[in-house]
Amino acid sequence: MKFQAIKGTRDILPPDSALWNRVEQTARDVFGTYGYSEIRTPIFEQTELFARSIGAETDVVAKEMYTFDDRDGDTVTLRPEATASVCRAYIEHGMHTLPGNVKLYNIGPMFRRERPQKGRYRQFFQIDAEVLGQSDAPAIDAEVIEMLLVFFERVGLRGATLSVNSIGDKNCRPKYVELLREELRKVKDSLGPDSQRRIETNPLRVLDSKLPEEQAIIETLPHIADYLCDDCRAHFAKLQAELKLREISYEINWRLVRGLDYYMRTTFEIIAPGLGSQNAVCGGGRYDGLVELLGGPPTKGIGFAIGTDRLILSLQDATKDAAPESALDVFIAWMGEKSYAPAVQLARQLRDAGYAVELPPEEMKFKKSIGLADKLGAKYALIIGEDEVASKQYSLKRLADGQQNKYSMADLLQHLHGARAS
Ligand code: HAM
Repeated sequence: MKFQAIKGTRDILPPDSALWNRVEQTARDVFGTYGYSEIRTPIFEQTELFARSIGAETDVVAKEMYTFDDRDGDTVTLRPEATASVCRAYIEHGMHTLPGNVKLYNIGPMFRRERPQKGRYRQFFQIDAEVLGQSDAPAIDAEVIEMLLVFFERVGLRGATLSVNSIGDKNCRPKYVELLREELRKVKDSLGPDSQRRIETNPLRVLDSKLPEEQAIIETLPHIADYLCDDCRAHFAKLQAELKLREISYEINWRLVRGLDYYMRTTFEIIAPGLGSQNAVCGGGRYDGLVELLGGPPTKGIGFAIGTDRLILSLQDATKDAAPESALDVFIAWMGEKSYAPAVQLARQLRDAGYAVELPPEEMKFKKSIGLADKLGAKYALIIGEDEVASKQYSLKRLADGQQNKYSMADLLQHLHGARAS
């Protein structure tokens, strides 16, 4: 029997894992400068938490959740996203009593049973950030977006575009949804089966359709911007002023409604190049009222989740022609029994000084050693034979050009430091 990773899941292997670590570390660093701290929530929760937060009619809840009965009969679900869990934790730990806004980020795997394709997996990873508190000031929305763009800039993502929208609140949205439903009923026969069904269950989602034959019809539908109540209209105008203040370019996409039910007012999405159809690398928005819906105190909330898999794909696409940089600094080519103990000690000293060192566990012939050092992409081979042991002068060979010099241990470290700095 041959085992394979389950469809829609994958292994992240070196050297890709180094890029993953760099991306996640950059998120920690950037988010830290904006006052966010890490929260780690469980991978599975009560099913009802997601059903109530995300909405029973959404694709995520209706079709994509990994739900199973636990041995004691409880029904549990592998988390399809992080926002619901963060709100649950906010309530459970009474975080509303903390001073100021509570800013949290969460990094880890999520699970949705979607049809796998490039950029779409059944186990995928998100870098999620949430702000919870008493204020719904548009400055919070704008700062969240600013932080996101600073992060993308810092990891080297180029050519990403930001779309924003407002989808109103409980005062104005129901009226717009009803109007949309009426308009959609008139054109029902020209729509595909998914959209036809959504006219009754969730007409907003029709706006999300990518079906080419539905596009012309959708473009004639009423825009929510024309039906926002005064408060929502003012909030959206202020958000745009705040984005301009921060010199953030954006476009308004009136069809950006998002696939989860908890959103209100601000929604946003970032599209990245090199990804094909699964090109949304981040989605987010405001969800005032979700904490209350889950049994907590009245609370405002906004956040986003970056699809790490997609971000990495886009970064790799942008650098696919660049030569990979080797992580290995020094390969120790030791020969002769007497060289082994000094080789072990030198390896330890070099590693203590922060260099990546490969020490062959068994003696190798010189030529084979240098050949392997080359294949591993080592920058240097440190040659230790019996002469070197006797003189305590070690030969350092730069593999790119074969240049070779002898150094004492102290000089060797100084030389490596100098080479690293230049
Ligand atoms: P979402 O739009 O469902 O929002 O997911 C956010 C991002 O996760 C997507 O833009 C995409 O990059 C990535 N993603 C989603 N599904 C998959 C998949 N099957 N494979 C690979 N990547 C995927 C949320 O999850 C919200 N919780 C975001 C949020 C946080 N809103 C407020 N706070």
